[in-house]
Amino acid sequence: MQVENPKSILVIFGATGDLANRKLFPSIYRLYKNGKLSEDFAVVGVARRPLTNENFRDNVKRSIPEKWQDNEAIDLETFASHFYYHPFDVTDLASYQKLNDLLGTLDEKHHTEENRIFYLAMAPNFFGTIAKNLKSEGLTDTKGWSRLVIEKPFGSDYESAKQLNEEIRHAFTEDQIYRIDHYLGKEMVQNIEVIRFANAIFEPLWNNQYIANIQITSSETLGVEDRGRYYEKSGALRDMVQNHMLQMLALLAMEPPIKLSPDEIRSEKVKALRAMRTMTVDNVDDYFVRGQYGPGLSQGQEVEGYREGNSVDPESNTETFVAGKLLIDNFRWAGVPFYIRTGKRMSIKATEIVVQFKDLPMNLYFNKGKDIQPNLLVIHIHPDEGVTLHLNAEKAGKGTTSTPIKLNYYTSNEDKINTPEAYEVLLYDCMLGDSTNFTHWDEVALSWKFVDTISEAWEKNKAKNFPNYESGSMGPKEASALLDKDGFHWWEI
Ligand code: BG6
Repeated sequence: MQVENPKSILVIFGATGDLANRKLFPSIYRLYKNGKLSEDFAVVGVARRPLTNENFRDNVKRSIPEKWQDNEAIDLETFASHFYYHPFDVTDLASYQKLNDLLGTLDEKHHTEENRIFYLAMAPNFFGTIAKNLKSEGLTDTKGWSRLVIEKPFGSDYESAKQLNEEIRHAFTEDQIYRIDHYLGKEMVQNIEVIRFANAIFEPLWNNQYIANIQITSSETLGVEDRGRYYEKSGALRDMVQNHMLQMLALLAMEPPIKLSPDEIRSEKVKALRAMRTMTVDNVDDYFVRGQYGPGLSQGQEVEGYREGNSVDPESNTETFVAGKLLIDNFRWAGVPFYIRTGKRMSIKATEIVVQFKDLPMNLYFNKGKDIQPNLLVIHIHPDEGVTLHLNAEKAGKGTTSTPIKLNYYTSNEDKINTPEAYEVLLYDCMLGDSTNFTHWDEVALSWKFVDTISEAWEKNKAKNFPNYESGSMGPKEASALLDKDGFHWWEI
């Protein structure tokens, strides 16, 4: 298959930051190494710090994991020579004019056809200003295309997100804006659609006649680490639920699109999000529970509680865990609960989806004297990548006994090494102009409106029992009670 080699200059705002170093530079390296970037590309790092091109290129070289540098055909020096640094003040118009001059020179040198990606990998308070100045100073006025990539958080509630959106929309049209949700770049999240829509055995069962409930878990073992300042304002609800969890839910719940174009897929996701049952501030507690980790044992190490962390209020009311029950009020899903659960400092790091099918109308077989186990389809998103189907089969010689078996598909280790990282996929998609795996404003708006009711309820009624789960556990007992009420339980992951 012929690989497309997009030509463009990538301008990274926040080029001295963590995201650029940990994710973006290594992803650009992999694209280069895998032949997806031709020699016609340039990266301009922009940040306040006064660095030279040489300093910057040294940072870039240091950010590439050694285990990836096994290809003698790729010379790290040649790769790094595509990187340039431009010290920058986001509020100073002269900075933009100088940047524009530099981009003009680089366009000629690297034959990038005046195609530009502006990647905002920095604190969100300047997103609006940067977008406005890029346009007013003519940086988007080129013969080629211009695209804006925006990292989360996209606002902190519906109102702030709307305001931010209006600011950037003055300078960029919706189809030039690429809002990142890195979960959409994960191989197995992209596979949700393939599993559903490319297998005749699942789609007929994918509804309230055959599915009892769907569980989406994204648990982490790490705590908030040095991100206390950000996390105090965000909490797990804004950090994980508004974006990653609701995006996975939309992909699981949406109707089949009429074709695989970004517009058609988005329109089905939006419909699913619109069908989510809204809550009122007074009944949020019937659907959502929150938690905050206390001290405990994480991976064999004693660790402190959230409130003892850096830049965290010792009486903080911020949640580090959320579990919720969502209902989708449409013909396909009426009556089927979607349970979500996410938290920090839990016992394992894993993202998994469990689809639990309904029980058979009567039990002819038993498993250890009990009813047989329901069929489950488990989609392993991370760290394992694969699918497991839980079935029941006969145990030799035991007439009425069945035993649970698993059909597993895991990507092999070799595949894993070659599996592109989420950011690599998303950067390449953006270079090709494919916005399928980015979030449209309509999805962002609906997600914030849903989440805002929960934040409002939790602001109004502060948690009285925080911290309410031990580090190294699977969250507070209220999370289990949420499913008990419906006669279900969380499947172990
Ligand atoms: C980020 C959150 O969006 O996702 C982090 O801000 C979280 O708090 C991370 O740790 C989880 O991503 P992943 O890919 O490790 O599951």
